Amino acid sequence: MESFATVAAPGVGTAGYDVAVIEPEHVLRTRLAVELAEAAQYATIEELVQNLRSGRPIVAVFGPGFVSPMGFQHVHRLTGMHPELGAVFAVAELSTEVLQQALRAGARDAVVLGGEASLHQSVDRVGELLAGTTTRVQTPATRVGDPGRLVVVFSTKGGVGKTCIAINVGVAMAKRSPDPVVLVDADLQFGDVSVMLGLPPHHTVLDAAAAAQYGDMELVQTLSARHESGLLVLPAPIEPMPTDAILPGEMVGICNALQAIAGHVIVDMPSVFNDYVLALVEAADDVLLVGSMDIPSIKNLKIGMQTLDLGAIAGSKLRLVLNHANAKVKLDVKEIERVLGLSANFPVPDDLAVPMSVNAGRPVVLEDPKAPVSRALDRIAEALLSPSAARRAGGRRR
Ligand SMILES: Nc1ncnc2c1ncn2[C@@H]1O[C@H](COP(=O)(O)OP(=O)(O)O)[C@@H](O)[C@H]1O
Ligand SMILES: [Mg+2]
Repeated sequence: MESFATVAAPGVGTAGYDVAVIEPEHVLRTRLAVELAEAAQYATIEELVQNLRSGRPIVAVFGPGFVSPMGFQHVHRLTGMHPELGAVFAVAELSTEVLQQALRAGARDAVVLGGEASLHQSVDRVGELLAGTTTRVQTPATRVGDPGRLVVVFSTKGGVGKTCIAINVGVAMAKRSPDPVVLVDADLQFGDVSVMLGLPPHHTVLDAAAAAQYGDMELVQTLSARHESGLLVLPAPIEPMPTDAILPGEMVGICNALQAIAGHVIVDMPSVFNDYVLALVEAADDVLLVGSMDIPSIKNLKIGMQTLDLGAIAGSKLRLVLNHANAKVKLDVKEIERVLGLSANFPVPDDLAVPMSVNAGRPVVLEDPKAPVSRALDRIAEALLSPSAARRAGGRRR
């Protein structure tokens, strides 16, 4: 029988694991192997198995030829028998269904051939995971004890700095917390978390919603991408979606699934009122209410709080974050506190470093950690990590 194997032993990665490409079609196989410079090539799973070096971690990249019920079944059997093997699917088109089948077959990831999310990144990530662990980690370990805390970043107005605060507080928390911190972009229309973090959206909230709909909570947990800071990110869809594309129960379900594996789940909210926004505010442990230090913003916040009856729904969970809070502005913080009935314990100064970091696609707390704005954001992160401190810092004024 003709063998397609061009290298006897699996390609040797530099980082303590091997890489192999498995695809029956010659041209596709070559293309994949070229993309992954040091990968071995096999036409069949049998060939791969013959060349496995016992116990040595290996990332096995399966080409489009394995996207079929039979293909998934074979990969499933293989991953079940070889815990040292991490499977990645490289597919022509990535639908939620294909992704789900791939992950059910025991794969650790699925990426689009020639797509934006690089195959390299995925292989590196899986390889490092394998090299660093001896046991198979199918999904992130469920934490023992209580579920993680749900923090929503909310305002009644756009452009006040919700997303900037959500990503920077998320990054600052991820750097300090021993437990995973996940950031969910719930702004289905204008979600820009992935742009601000310089992280290409790979799987999105919509995929997570589809998985939640099937009741596949393990899949929900595997969909987030890891930012260099350690923050796990579930971005919004690239194409703007109607705000009712996700049902309130689904959004809360996604967050609950993530709370099972994370110490904190932070949600960047849209600036609209809808059912899922309300459901998230109700489900949250901490509500960061972001206001900008200008009259329209505070007026808006006041009206929004009354309309939503936020005091009743979220009273003790509310923490006022006053953005652009500088002495230069002629608004009295005491007056704002009086109008809103909240203590302004989290002022965030206006700083040119913020728009600069936004344009650079890097959070300001990493880009310019010594800037006063970064210190202010760090303080919020620290308070959220210590719930009793957050409670002292928030709530309604007496
Ligand atoms: N503290 C700040 N200092 C300077 N600019 C800021 C600050 N916070 C936010 N911005 C700017 O305001 C813009 C809008 O912020 P963003 O977080 O996108 O608001 P939202 O999510 O509420 O719509 C950003 O492009 C950012 O550059
Ligand atoms: Mg935003």
